[in-house]
Amino acid sequence: MTWTPASWRELHANQQPDWPDTGELEAVLKTLSGYPPLVFAGEARSLQAALGTVAQGRAFLLQAGDCAESFDSFNANSIRERLRLILQMAVILTYSAGVPVVKVGRIAGQFAKPRSSPNETIDGTSLPSFRGHIVNDIAFNAEARTADPHRLVQAYHQSAATLNLLRAFTRGGFADLRRVHAWNQEFVSESPEGARYEQLARSIDRALRFMAACGLDTDTVPSLHETDVFTSHEALILGYEEALTRQDSLTGDWYDCSAHMVWLGERTRELDGAHVEFFRGIHNPVGCKIGPNATPDDVLGLCEALNPERVPGRLTLITRMGKDVVRSALPPLLNAVRDAGHPVVWACDPMHGNTFTSQSGRKTRDFDDILDEIAGFFSAHREAGTWPGGVHVELTSDDVTECLGGGEAILDDHLTLRYETMCDPRLNGRQSLDLAFRVAELLHARA
Ligand code: TRP
Ligand code: MN
Repeated sequence: MTWTPASWRELHANQQPDWPDTGELEAVLKTLSGYPPLVFAGEARSLQAALGTVAQGRAFLLQAGDCAESFDSFNANSIRERLRLILQMAVILTYSAGVPVVKVGRIAGQFAKPRSSPNETIDGTSLPSFRGHIVNDIAFNAEARTADPHRLVQAYHQSAATLNLLRAFTRGGFADLRRVHAWNQEFVSESPEGARYEQLARSIDRALRFMAACGLDTDTVPSLHETDVFTSHEALILGYEEALTRQDSLTGDWYDCSAHMVWLGERTRELDGAHVEFFRGIHNPVGCKIGPNATPDDVLGLCEALNPERVPGRLTLITRMGKDVVRSALPPLLNAVRDAGHPVVWACDPMHGNTFTSQSGRKTRDFDDILDEIAGFFSAHREAGTWPGGVHVELTSDDVTECLGGGEAILDDHLTLRYETMCDPRLNGRQSLDLAFRVAELLHARA
């Protein structure tokens, strides 16, 4: 079958909204397809090259951000705060583990959510499920829950503005290593995690002064003052992704220009489904979530479908096993992919396999379970002789109480205090720094 940006339409697509007016939808998609791309093919290629070094065991992937971005909390502050936390984590990993870190945000497009049921029923009333702000609104009434194609355009504009600010911050001084201290937020700096970060920041200052004292003109070394933070999201709403797919004038290849990297979810990765068909033909680096029920044959099938040329960096497998099964479920997959010679990036999503409903009825995750899955991921890779290439986490720099445990020992009773997520529970600023230090220790032990 020959691939086109629309060839997915011949196949069954899971998790698509029920758009009330398909004429209106197609009109919106046509408009979007005339808008400028959000990212450029060359940028996607640089990310793929960077991920290639991860696949070869020479760098580490930090993929982090919101579970679901919101149309409501869309402002400069929220973008800057999320970036700041990613930079802090990246600098912890780079400095403590001594490996380059490829930084990819779940940002500037992470709007769509797969749902286990198409409808939600409350007190006998049944309405379409909330599928993320790119589709409908979370309020429980018929109007809010109706899929509205104009939201696709709003998602595009919000992504463009978010990306614009990310580019400005990462190139225009905010990400300068001379500002490591300034990235520490006040409420975090008082905490043990914040203090540990301060100490690391002082070591970096000292290293920079040392290099300057040695005669190196640190002012003129761009890599000390700038960084790359790439964007990514789950490419769920295929009409939107198709509308932003463009042919690169340099190579003639097709790129999904909605983000640098896109991934497939556990619920949309069937080999004969529309999502895999779409992903097969785009040249971006792509990811795929792998849950505990995936067999070695499933995974090898995905490797063949998504990366037949075996390009290092093209495919990232994001495993989300759960802390109890990671040590038994992961090794057969690692061995199969290793033996088949597929050059994948292995990343650990320690969040989605460890979600449960607490006694108080909140959807939550325990920080210790998250760390335990990461530890299991590292030990499985050690045994298989493969590189534990990265982590994929849901976080916010806000002082939320959504995940249990961590340094401030958040308890079930505390969850209601500041439970702000629209979807899954996220690590807060302190928990995220703590996690970065723990991962850095595991990496350091490994290197
Ligand atoms: N350019 C390097 C990098 O991106 C060093 C660097 C500059 C950096 N600013 C940073 C690292 C902020 C982490 C965070 O790795
Ligand atoms: Mn999530």
